[in-house]
Amino acid sequence: MRYMGLLHTYQSMLPINEATPMLTLHEGNTPLIHAEALSKELGINIYLKYEGLNPTGSFKDRGMVMAVAKAVEEGSRTIMCASTGNTSAAAAAYAARAGLNCIVLIPNNNIALGKLAQAMIYGAKVIAIEGNFDRALEIVREITAKHPITLVNSVNPYRIEGQKTAAFEVCDQLGDAPDMLAIPVGNAGNISAYWKGFKEYHEAGRSTKRPRMLGFEAEGAMAIVKGEPILEPETIATAIRIGNPASWKTAVEAAQQSEGQINYVTDEQILSAYQQLAAKEGVFAEPASAASLAGVIKLHQEGYFTGGESVVCVLTGNGLKDPNVAIKTAGIEPLVVPDTEEAVMEAIQRLERE
Ligand code: F0G
Repeated sequence: MRYMGLLHTYQSMLPINEATPMLTLHEGNTPLIHAEALSKELGINIYLKYEGLNPTGSFKDRGMVMAVAKAVEEGSRTIMCASTGNTSAAAAAYAARAGLNCIVLIPNNNIALGKLAQAMIYGAKVIAIEGNFDRALEIVREITAKHPITLVNSVNPYRIEGQKTAAFEVCDQLGDAPDMLAIPVGNAGNISAYWKGFKEYHEAGRSTKRPRMLGFEAEGAMAIVKGEPILEPETIATAIRIGNPASWKTAVEAAQQSEGQINYVTDEQILSAYQQLAAKEGVFAEPASAASLAGVIKLHQEGYFTGGESVVCVLTGNGLKDPNVAIKTAGIEPLVVPDTEEAVMEAIQRLERE
């Protein structure tokens, strides 16, 4: 049967009524890929929830389709968000689809190139502020409180409703909830949404258990781990360069109620996991996404796993979003040679020796 998107597929679990438009770009239904090499290496069963295959290349499409559908239902003409890039791409795309205006606020010079390109080509009004994501979100909250503009950051509860469908999919794909779910934490909406989804599926009798939630912040932005906001967050993973997460409280609850944890990973660990995902599994995710696997590798080194556990690593965004980090990390400089068979054979031998 033709897949009809999230609102259609999970209608009974979502805040949908007769007046809600069944908006879709066929988001969701992303693959859960068994990580063969890494599972063997770590002695656990690692699955990759590859959210980079959503229509705009990140998990944000799940929440955005719901939030924009509700904005249309409520008669809104304009939506607005602050973003480290992925939310703005999703907002811009769904606004275009629904015929709404879209305004996005981004931190100047701290968003990946692909994401900026997306917001622009979908026709959003893009404003870069001389400040970070946290400041952008404050400004968006102030403006949307005073003007008839719908806020579509994850403080909008419909975003969380849409995003919880990823937990439903994981359960449907595995046949049950996994033992653990590892996930990057930035503004902390996604970990809150997954936990809500796992709880609801369990209550509905559609899974026999609930996973431990393992959330990972970047070391330079680990507000929750430290227990205080970080005024100047820094990390190579610009998507999670956030110092004062809006869903802080619900993220902590998710970790506590599930007997999991909120931990952190360094940029070095993120880049190592990022490279391993691509080179060992053939899965290209953006740097922030690799925080989930980086965290699992870290916990493995600390002896956290007993062996054989099923662990789902959420890969939140597509690697193509951030070409600059890929080029830097892999040192991509193709070897240029004359157009002869001999020159190419020589080059192959040279590369094999390297
Ligand atoms: N991974 C990616 C690729 C992201 O873009 C984000 C958040 C996260 C993880 C963290 O998710 O905020 O729910 O904890 N990006 C937001 C944005 C902030 O503006 O695109 P979270």
